[in-house]
Amino acid sequence: MLGVAIIGCGDMGRKHAAGWNAQDGATVVTVCDHHPDRADALSGQLNAGVSRNWQEAITTQGVDIVSICVPVCDHAAVAVAAANAGRHVLCEKAMALTLAEADQMIAAAKANNIQLSVCHQYRALSRFRTMKRLIDDGRLGAPLYIRFSEMREVRPKLAMHDRGLNGGPVHDMTGHLFDLARYFTEAEPVSVTATGAVFGRGKARLESVSDFGIDTAEIAMRFTGGHVLTIGLNWGLPEGTPGHCHEMIHGPEGVAFCQDAEAPDRFLGDVSDTIGVVIKDRNGRERIACDPDDEGPEACVRQLMRAIRTGERSDFDGRQGRIALRMILASLTAIETGQTITI
Ligand SMILES: NC(=O)c1ccc[n+]([C@@H]2O[C@H](COP(=O)([O-])OP(=O)(O)OC[C@H]3O[C@@H](n4cnc5c(N)ncnc54)[C@H](O)[C@@H]3O)[C@@H](O)[C@H]2O)c1
Repeated sequence: MLGVAIIGCGDMGRKHAAGWNAQDGATVVTVCDHHPDRADALSGQLNAGVSRNWQEAITTQGVDIVSICVPVCDHAAVAVAAANAGRHVLCEKAMALTLAEADQMIAAAKANNIQLSVCHQYRALSRFRTMKRLIDDGRLGAPLYIRFSEMREVRPKLAMHDRGLNGGPVHDMTGHLFDLARYFTEAEPVSVTATGAVFGRGKARLESVSDFGIDTAEIAMRFTGGHVLTIGLNWGLPEGTPGHCHEMIHGPEGVAFCQDAEAPDRFLGDVSDTIGVVIKDRNGRERIACDPDDEGPEACVRQLMRAIRTGERSDFDGRQGRIALRMILASLTAIETGQTITI
């Protein structure tokens, strides 16, 4: 039985804990949070212990795996210390704030011969696996033009907007989309151009944020093989503005997009059981129903378990997380400089 420490008992910490406890061979041994009431609530629910801080949690007896669910600014410190204590690591996205931090995490994992995974779970979701199958069946042709669009009111969690915590909305969100584009195309990024802005400044909800990260961007990225990804992202709309998001893939032979009949204003991660993928190609139009399967990090949990047992590399390996981070940082540099950035 593998023992798990949950670092951070907010939304993702609770999802990680549920994901681990759903596995036959794993159980949560200890949890910790800056807010003792959150740690107490989760430990009570799981019948697990509580540690005073993450340093104590990672060295707790019986801990084999550390699940990191705190803001991005703390990912590297916790992951490196956990690896040096011989613990496997499941780290939330974005992997880190800088490539130097990501490199330290990967080096510590290698030096201590532990598995390091980053939670880019979108590639495991039913609707995106459905899109991938359509691509692999040749129904869209190549090259692919992928369009992700996500427009939302200012986010309720200040860490999402704060450059020093999660890096700001572009840093926080686009890594999932970059990872998906690599999954769909099986190609690597070549260069990026982008423009961006901060819409969140002056919004009442974000009054206490002093260091705003970019929350609004248009990003165009070229991939090997001639594939193109464009992302329109805005997490700075006024409170109460209905959000919407689209995921659409165009190819010379067809077009595929996600559609949720009951939730047209859904967020990328939130779907109802009416989610499906529509494909329009030379055979006409077809709608393929998908599982809502918003299983959060559970796919990453399962693959990390397998990697620990067999030594096989997880799809969510730290190196994948680092590539997504490199794409994020190149996009931010493109926004800041107005230049095309080679990746
Ligand atoms: N994979 C995904 O789809 C996804 C979705 C949302 C968030 N995330 C990521 O998950 C992480 C956590 O996000 P969240 O939405 O759960 O945030 P949250 O605010 O709900 O929870 C974070 C918790 O960490 C605690 N915390 C902060 N610093 C700490 C520290 N040093 N030691 C102990 N506890 C600490 C906070 O008190 C809070 O309870 C972030 O890295 C975020 O980017 C990933």
